[in-house]
Amino acid sequence: MDHDVISGPRGSAIERDQTDPLAPVRQAFDLPQGVVYLDGNSLGPLPKAVPKAMAQVIERQWGATLIKSWNDHDWINLPSRVGEKIAHLIGAGPGQVICTDSVSVNLFKVLAAALRLSARPAKILSEADNFPSDLYLVEGMNALLGAAAPAFEVAQTDALLECLDESVSILLLTQVNFKTGAMHDLAELTARAQAVGALVIWDLSHSTGVLDLELDAANVDFAVGCGYKFLNGGPGAPGYLYVASRHQGSVSQPLSGWMGHAQPFAFSQGYEPAQGVKRFLSGTPAILSMTALDAALTVFDGLELAQVRAKSEQLGSYLIHLVESIDGELELISPRDASQRGSQVSFRHPLAYPIVQALIEADVIGDFRAPDIVRLGFNPLFNSFADIEQAARALKTVLMTGGHLESRFSAQKLVT
Ligand SMILES: Cc1ncc(COP(=O)(O)O)c(C=O)c1O
Repeated sequence: MDHDVISGPRGSAIERDQTDPLAPVRQAFDLPQGVVYLDGNSLGPLPKAVPKAMAQVIERQWGATLIKSWNDHDWINLPSRVGEKIAHLIGAGPGQVICTDSVSVNLFKVLAAALRLSARPAKILSEADNFPSDLYLVEGMNALLGAAAPAFEVAQTDALLECLDESVSILLLTQVNFKTGAMHDLAELTARAQAVGALVIWDLSHSTGVLDLELDAANVDFAVGCGYKFLNGGPGAPGYLYVASRHQGSVSQPLSGWMGHAQPFAFSQGYEPAQGVKRFLSGTPAILSMTALDAALTVFDGLELAQVRAKSEQLGSYLIHLVESIDGELELISPRDASQRGSQVSFRHPLAYPIVQALIEADVIGDFRAPDIVRLGFNPLFNSFADIEQAARALKTVLMTGGHLESRFSAQKLVT
């Protein structure tokens, strides 16, 4: 058997792809020819079902039936319908998930709801390594609350358990770290937080669609997640929020717009929240964006998330193996143990930005995260083992030829 430094026994990626039960799912995506897309953790690619569904809603509904579509095509209940589809992917029973707004806005709503629900003197615990937007939102909420603001502690990850004591009323965590891909044990931390009397809010932005989540089984209190990453709902797709049934009778949230009202079209004085998770709606749903997400979710029909997760672990381990066999300069910062890692692998390198730009020019699209991280994400629904091999090969070429040292690769763009 022929041998090369990237793939080991040549053909191992092809063999893996041939026996991969998820390989046919790639056909559900409209991926540009020749591109290895390792950024589906940031913006999922276009599912083929989306343009058709969008055209239908734009021309036959918005165009043809105008405002009557809110009733005739049940636009008004789209947030619940899409929410229920997402619920299937995160181990949530009916009536607990709604599709709406961005992750940031949803997080504000559930933070405030958890704060109102929690009986004890309030303290929010999060981690310094959390996605900054999540921490900014606590800062924003606390600025609004002034003297009534809860205490806010931001722990280093290795000190998190130490800080999780009876003084904490809300534990706010992102399950998969956006930079390193390191993954928290959701069930274990939920149990620990609840054992000290705290409520838990999980940000599942980098988990939904690639991990085999079981929110009900883990007794999670609140969660938020993203529609445009592994759910492939398109740029700026709405996110979702999860509120456990047991809290729904007693929670309220401050963005009390009319869509969360019990009877929005009664136009009555005074806010009366809708029953259930619907009270977490605020304004008019973005029907076109939600239609794209709704159609994108059909890609998951008939798939087992456990199978998706298993392939994700294999893709990551394969990438680590290949990259480490070619280069000593890239420092792995993701967990080597696949069970502790989300669906991405990250490496540290002082020239990470130009390396990523040179890779993109070679049709291998990953991203850079400040200050020095090459981040390569994969979605088992469309990424193949051959993709991983091609990415490692491109990385080797860039590093060996010094392609990334060309000055044009260092000019930083607005979005990295
Ligand atoms: C973990 C995490 N939380 C929150 C956000 C913010 O999401 P949005 O821009 O939809 O508010 C992101 C965005 O990438 C994220 O990765």
